[in-house]
Amino acid sequence: MAKKILLRTPLRAFKPYVAGKPIEEVRREYGLTGHIAKMASNENPLGTSPKALEAMRKAIEEVYLYPDDNAFYIRKKIAQTHQVAFENVFAANGSVEVLELAVQAFVEPGDGVVTSEHTFAIYMLAAMKIDAQLRMAPMIDGGYRYDLPAIGKLVDDRTKIVFLANPTNPTGTWFSGEEFDTFMAHVPEDVLVVYDSAYAEYCPYPDMPDPMKHYRQGRRILCLRTFSKAYGMAGIRVGYAIGPADIIHGLMTCRVAFNLNLVAQAGAMAALDDDEFVRRSREFNDRELAFLREGMKELDVIVPPSRANFLLVDTKKNAQWLFEELQKQGIIVRPMGGYGYPGAIRVNPWQREDNERFLSSLKRLLASDQGSL
Ligand SMILES: Cc1ncc(COP(=O)(O)O)c(C=O)c1O
Repeated sequence: MAKKILLRTPLRAFKPYVAGKPIEEVRREYGLTGHIAKMASNENPLGTSPKALEAMRKAIEEVYLYPDDNAFYIRKKIAQTHQVAFENVFAANGSVEVLELAVQAFVEPGDGVVTSEHTFAIYMLAAMKIDAQLRMAPMIDGGYRYDLPAIGKLVDDRTKIVFLANPTNPTGTWFSGEEFDTFMAHVPEDVLVVYDSAYAEYCPYPDMPDPMKHYRQGRRILCLRTFSKAYGMAGIRVGYAIGPADIIHGLMTCRVAFNLNLVAQAGAMAALDDDEFVRRSREFNDRELAFLREGMKELDVIVPPSRANFLLVDTKKNAQWLFEELQKQGIIVRPMGGYGYPGAIRVNPWQREDNERFLSSLKRLLASDQGSL
């Protein structure tokens, strides 16, 4: 009799990542006919970099061909942009691929993975999938900000990887360059620090850390970037990592062949030249994030400071209830119960009319006697 194939042990109790719902699914589910504002997935309300879009339209003619498996040109261009060598660049099917591969390549079952509580779920999920020992430090400043010294204290001689997002998702809070330098001074040299700057283009401020400085000093740090946010390319999936050659080699070893598709490679090449679109995206985000924040000033909510393209809105209502009620009105946000904030939703600014609609709906719901926590 054939042997029954069982799911590996760590995967049996595993709940996969739940992404925000696509617009069409919400339309079907709620029978909505009007405009739907998707303010749930930190996407770019300005669309896609026009330069990238043009390059991708051309590239689509070529999809009968396999992409360049080595992603040579895009890796070379990233290397030039950051003034590093080709072998220090890994290009991926979104930065989530890098996160997963880092664990697959370098963490044995039982090894330590350290991060913060309430941070990007993929860090935790990647570690759980291989049965790593996951340690998460509590947050500070009301429970919305990384406690870097506490994260550092969780590192021991079994720790292989520390995951840090800066700014972090879903709170948008950040740590400074000074805080990070102190942290790095205490982390053992052989631990791989994965520094995820998915929202870096929204906060080019001098007090933010420079992870590349530590890389140049020879530290084992993997610096992650994505084209999903400020370049508006979430749907085509491109991210990348810069790090020591042996780490990049490890990621190359574990990746799926042809991981970066041909259209994505062409789009990312062109996007890297589109500083103008990134500038416009940042300006739009600054304005509309401030508008949303201002609109919630008088409400009974906590909105932690954010340097990303979203706000966490912590309320005294049940987040799932708020999410569903907003959805009935054609506004999609993310409920954050799964991240340990049972009363919080995460919202990213969209067009001004959508932001106004969100604010007035939220006000109405918060004033309702339903949906209490
Ligand atoms: C902190 C963080 N890292 C990575 C990602 C995923 O980026 P990508 O689309 O490049 O996989 C996100 C997306 O929301 C994020 O918030």
